[in-house]
Amino acid sequence: MVASCIIGAQWGDEGKGKVIDLLAEGVDFVVRYSGGNNAGHTVVIGDQRYALHLLPSGILRDNIVNVLAGGVVIDPWHLVSEIEKLRAVGIRVEPGENLLISNSAHLILPHHRLQDQAMEELRGKGKIGTTGRGIGPAYQDRANRSGLRFGDLADPGRLAERLRQVVGEKNLWLEPLGQDRVDVDELLPALLETVEVLWPAGCDTSALLRRWLREDRAILFEGAQGLMLDVDIGTYPYVTSCSVGLGGVASAGVSPRAIDRVILVAKAYTTRVGEGPLPTELHDETGQRIRDQGHEYGTTTGRPRRCGWLDAVALRYACEASGGDELYLTNLDVLSGFDVVRVGTSYEIDGESYEVFPAGSPKLDTVRVQYEDLPGWDEDITGCRSFTALPAAAQAYVDFLEKTIGVAIPLVSVGPGRDQVIPRNRG
Ligand code: IMP
Repeated sequence: MVASCIIGAQWGDEGKGKVIDLLAEGVDFVVRYSGGNNAGHTVVIGDQRYALHLLPSGILRDNIVNVLAGGVVIDPWHLVSEIEKLRAVGIRVEPGENLLISNSAHLILPHHRLQDQAMEELRGKGKIGTTGRGIGPAYQDRANRSGLRFGDLADPGRLAERLRQVVGEKNLWLEPLGQDRVDVDELLPALLETVEVLWPAGCDTSALLRRWLREDRAILFEGAQGLMLDVDIGTYPYVTSCSVGLGGVASAGVSPRAIDRVILVAKAYTTRVGEGPLPTELHDETGQRIRDQGHEYGTTTGRPRRCGWLDAVALRYACEASGGDELYLTNLDVLSGFDVVRVGTSYEIDGESYEVFPAGSPKLDTVRVQYEDLPGWDEDITGCRSFTALPAAAQAYVDFLEKTIGVAIPLVSVGPGRDQVIPRNRG
């Protein structure tokens, strides 16, 4: 098992950062293959809490080379500031040494952020609730073949020429909407300042990755967001703009068939930020209680997350669609103190029952969820370190999920700390 991929199985924020950090021990490379600084991975080590947005989570461990592969979109100013913040708390980040960037990775430039905001305003009530980081417009330009890539930073003369053309077109679109004009004469020197920091990291990461795979080096591919936000599999159009799952690995220049092990991560309940269907959402004090107990506020935007009971219909779908080998269940501790814990096990739309997630249905926001109620538990479980030390009701909850979802759950997490994990011991 040398190449693994970790993928969020819900609507993001499943606790992937912690799982990646755990599995990174003994790994040589950690690779981000999709998304950008819309992601928010939190890792807690001792008393220190690290919020990573773009840098791979392996950056917190020594001796790991971290890769931002093709398929990732990079806001160079954000990346420089994330590097500086980590360095300020003593984390080593050396472009060209423990950080490599694909020359094929697309750049997020200021006009992408402006376009993201303008498009959300134009959508009005139908807004997606994006993170406003310019992610969608950068991927749009990638597909439109008008994007600039990290490798384009090599030649300032040619870069200036491309910027004038691209920014000129964007200004034509942005100005009538009352957005600021982007001025290339200001943009170019500011961009070249980031190049001074980042350029040593640039290389053909795809060739390196394929070489490392041939050499059987241990590689962890780090998914961002969650499968229900995947541009194809997710609740379109309320999704992000890229392939979140294993298919996204192909953008790194690596065949998904090279991945030996696919690990999915899900919370013991459901959260979502932004707009779009969330069938098990709770609008009452139970939802607020989950939010409070789970500190469910976005790492990237600070927005309160929408909360609800675990949606086994969506989770089963995500697990099947992504070919996950195993599922790590996080935040089980957050469910302590409820008399009853509920699991959504089927949907009803217009009187018709669905056990299989109705992908592509325009009626997802009208779903009525059928629940299975399980006994809750009162105990604080954050100190439990073995499965049998958990209250019987908590064990039964995990057993029930495993059976309902049909994927093995070999690890349960009971708190944010590196050590707050329980290997599943059925004996
Ligand atoms: P975008 O990726 O900024 O375009 O946002 C599209 C949708 O994905 C919005 O609903 C965001 O809230 C959501 N989203 C993007 N990244 C994350 C994440 O890392 N966690 C949770 N939601 C996310």
